[in-house]
Amino acid sequence: MSTIRAKILGTGSALPTKVLSNKDFEHMVDTTDEWIVTRTGIRERRIAEPEEATSDYVARACERALEAAGVPASEVEMILCATVTPDMMFPATANLVQDAIGAKNAASFDLSAACSGFLYGMSLGASLIESGRYRYVLVAAGDLLSRITDYEDRSTCVLFGDGAGAVLLGPATPGETAGLLSFSLGSDGSGGKYLQMPGGGSRRPATHESVDERLHFLKMQGSETFKFAVNAMVDSTEKVLGQLGMTNEDIDLLVPHQANIRIIDAASRRFGLRSEQVAVTIHKYGNTSASSIPIALDEAVREGRAKAGDLVVLVGFGGGLTWGSVAIRL
Ligand code: UT7
Repeated sequence: MSTIRAKILGTGSALPTKVLSNKDFEHMVDTTDEWIVTRTGIRERRIAEPEEATSDYVARACERALEAAGVPASEVEMILCATVTPDMMFPATANLVQDAIGAKNAASFDLSAACSGFLYGMSLGASLIESGRYRYVLVAAGDLLSRITDYEDRSTCVLFGDGAGAVLLGPATPGETAGLLSFSLGSDGSGGKYLQMPGGGSRRPATHESVDERLHFLKMQGSETFKFAVNAMVDSTEKVLGQLGMTNEDIDLLVPHQANIRIIDAASRRFGLRSEQVAVTIHKYGNTSASSIPIALDEAVREGRAKAGDLVVLVGFGGGLTWGSVAIRL
């Protein structure tokens, strides 16, 4: 076991200002505000302007995390960006962010683990610091899901939004209690069919036919994903706590992936958590993929709901299928 422990030095997030409300959807597809609120908990989501791209938001979230930490961009050695909506196939969004924020001494790359991407990034970023080779690592997640949402498909279009979040990780001082204590990650590629964007990759590159078949949009089998989600959240949280000899009673704040309020409520009930112990942003931002966890974490920190000394569990799941959890002492 390494004697170096990684901790969060600062958090940041960035969201578009444009709001798309449930009422707006009533004019776009056959749906109602009431259906969306009762089935998902979503009231509105944020949508980026046409000329913007994912890296614009990720860069802003990273700058805010650095500002909160009081660390200059030039000291960052690695930038990890989780995204399924990169600015383009390559270069990586993390490379574009490295330039945008002036992190001239940083290596940078993207990681693809859909909605679990931030948890994968946190685990990897912390491991790099624990190895002793890296000091400051920016872990970011950003997605403009509006770019791959089919606004003619009512079963998916009401769910998704745009945004980005980031944390700066660095080494804890020896002896201090704060730090990333443990993580647990998992995947099951046999469930890839439940949540995917089939077009644009090497199997179905962009053609007139792929566009006509609407393959460049996200496709989801909602109820299959829902069933997997609740178990993945509960099992992963129990696993990460079990590694620490802890139980649900040790949780001060749960920061779950924001996919559906019913999934969040089901998991919270299983752990006997009160509403103030669960970070919820889904009503105002919808599902922003991997960025939903760092956005909710940043808000909880800035609003004082996540305080020094708290045990915070981040937990999520998503396309892949993938899932994961991270336990942090703030
Ligand atoms: O972050 C990635 C992971 N994603 C998720 O975790 C999403 C997990 N899944 C879900 O959140 C839910 O399955 C949904 C919110 C997507 C759907 O809720 P549901 O309660 O599972 O609804 P359903 O798919 O079983 O559909 C029930 C009915 C259907 O009509 P019929 O067949 O019963 O007549 C749908 O056509 O609701 C209909 N429906 C809608 N009605 C009004 C589906 N979307 C809409 C809509 N407005 N937007």
